[in-house]
Amino acid sequence: MDAASRVAAARDVLSYLGQYRGRLFVLRVDDALRAAPLLSVLIRDVVQLQQMGISIVLVAGARATIDRLLGNSAAAAAAGGGAKRLSSGDRRVTPNEALAQVISATTDAVNDLVALLTESGARTVMGNWVRARSLGVIDGVDYQRSGRVERVDVEAIRAVLDAEQIPVVSSIGWNRAGKAYNISTTELAVEISVAMRAAKLFFVSDRPGIAAIETGSLRLSTRRAREAGAIYSSVHIREAQQLLDIEAGRLDHDERALLQQGVAACGRGVHRVHIVDGGRDGVLIDEIFSADGTGTMLYADRYALIEGAVAHDIPDIMRLLQPQMAEGLLIARTAAEVAETLEDYLVYRVDDTVQGCAALRMIDATTAEVESLLVAEGHRAEGSGRQLVQSLMERAQHRGATRVVALTTQAADFFMALGFEDASPDSLPQDRARAYDRERNSRVLGRTLGPAAAE
Ligand SMILES: CC(C)(COP(=O)(O)OP(=O)(O)OC[C@H]1O[C@@H](n2cnc3c(N)ncnc32)[C@H](O)[C@@H]1OP(=O)(O)O)[C@@H](O)C(=O)NCCC(=O)NCCS
Repeated sequence: MDAASRVAAARDVLSYLGQYRGRLFVLRVDDALRAAPLLSVLIRDVVQLQQMGISIVLVAGARATIDRLLGNSAAAAAAGGGAKRLSSGDRRVTPNEALAQVISATTDAVNDLVALLTESGARTVMGNWVRARSLGVIDGVDYQRSGRVERVDVEAIRAVLDAEQIPVVSSIGWNRAGKAYNISTTELAVEISVAMRAAKLFFVSDRPGIAAIETGSLRLSTRRAREAGAIYSSVHIREAQQLLDIEAGRLDHDERALLQQGVAACGRGVHRVHIVDGGRDGVLIDEIFSADGTGTMLYADRYALIEGAVAHDIPDIMRLLQPQMAEGLLIARTAAEVAETLEDYLVYRVDDTVQGCAALRMIDATTAEVESLLVAEGHRAEGSGRQLVQSLMERAQHRGATRVVALTTQAADFFMALGFEDASPDSLPQDRARAYDRERNSRVLGRTLGPAAAE
């Protein structure tokens, strides 16, 4: 990493830290990660986040252990063994006679996290700050000692946080009469996040996110996950609900539960829900302190707009363009060149981070060129690429252009869909034609503009 990239990365961290200091993150950490070699690294990162002023609540997932104890795997259920699980949610039957084992499994899960947190220098408090109630009988199934959250004791959790300690929550809750119930940690994490107005809720497990599926009608942005094919990168809860409505049968049990609970959490005020792979080195840091992240993020609202670039966007523009410039897919520009022509640049801003850019350069009095068009991978297919080009075409008209050209090696079809047509390099204005790099062999595309609308 060169000095400029190090500085840019550190600046990213500082700006995000300013946003998150004093805010609360809730993390449900799955026990499927217990054997993961990097679990202790993940927990050390959690402790560092807390030491930097972010409040943290950990919810200790114990499902894998409990499933093993109860013989409650899908296979066991299919074979008629053990208890049943409702197919649409994250619910299991906890037989009365199994409760002692379940309590022991959840205690182990909490203890494991506390041990790692302590090792990393954190002070922790173990407990359960929720009042539970019985799930009762649903669709004829008696859930026995499975419960749901009735109330979260916000003041008690707040007191632990104020004492700069990390509360580690177990999935056993008690009702008013002191009867213990086993609660889904997915639901528990959501209820705590909602009650405590968490900025972020993380489901940390051994899955990289929600696996993307081919759907005819839904177009969601995706990213490539390590060895796992494509996953959804950021999904609005409306789209997540559509996915659940249309494609429930193609989502696995956990994906459905995570999407359902994530939609509920965001709908009830949690700012962001992240589904990340805790076995991946630095996953939390990447998800929190970079513009992109690696897992699937659910959100209810976000602030996205296209506007003129300002000076402090230059490092972000360079960060976006650099990999494509290095591969020769975009024309190389230095930060100084961008600064000199900054008024030519538009940025696509999402939640105050730059996720796309494009520039318009007048190459003679009546011809403008689209340059440096790029949308960050995690934000493609959201319509911003088209909007950037459309905004540039409006700009071009206002600057008196009657024609816009684009030179591209990779995105000809994208421009064609916007009304551009193939043109010859010789149709470019003379100066630009001379500078045309025959080795890059870009396709030249052009589009005539109508008269400018009055400003
Ligand atoms: C080209 C690019 C800016 C499009 O951004 P985007 O935000 O994903 O675009 P939108 O969401 O507005 O549009 C998506 C549509 O464009 C199509 N599209 C996106 N990239 C494409 C490409 N390289 N070639 C052909 N079509 C493309 C998508 O298939 C989709 O079509 P559909 O809606 O008919 O299914 C983006 O893919 C990118 O940054 N690519 C790398 C850099 C690049 O090639 N820049 C252009 C150099 S001049």
